[in-house]
Amino acid sequence: MKIAVASDHAGLELKNFIRDFLKEKGFEVADLGTKNDCSVDYPVYADKMAAQILARKADLGVLVCGTGIGISIRANRHKGIRAALLYSDDVAVMAKKHNNANVIVFGGRTMDKNDVIKRIELFLDAEFEGGRHQERIDLLDK
Ligand code: RB5
Repeated sequence: MKIAVASDHAGLELKNFIRDFLKEKGFEVADLGTKNDCSVDYPVYADKMAAQILARKADLGVLVCGTGIGISIRANRHKGIRAALLYSDDVAVMAKKHNNANVIVFGGRTMDKNDVIKRIELFLDAEFEGGRHQERIDLLDK
């Protein structure tokens, strides 16, 4: 499974932490930036991620900005992207079970690193339920 990660400056530290965690777990990880703490615009990184996922160059994306909100909004403007802001453990599970999110999002200024790692594991361990949820996902892009 190939996972892409990206963030703006406000998400840099958490994005790097997530990237290193995923590499240690044995995933192939592509880091789409940002690479330093210079101020950048989060829509640019949401767009880079959307391109990577829609071209099937990565199976899952992880996005981080300060709150996770702006970068989620932009990512979800791309048809075919289902970006979910994992603000709780329950939401991390449901984002896979019901939404089959292809991008998961975190807030670098609002979330604890250990909570984020737990939510990534919960998301990866959960299974998409399909059925009526697949039908609803299909409606998202119509
Ligand atoms: C950047 O200062 C900040 O606005 C951004 O990271 C994000 O939180 C926007 O939603």
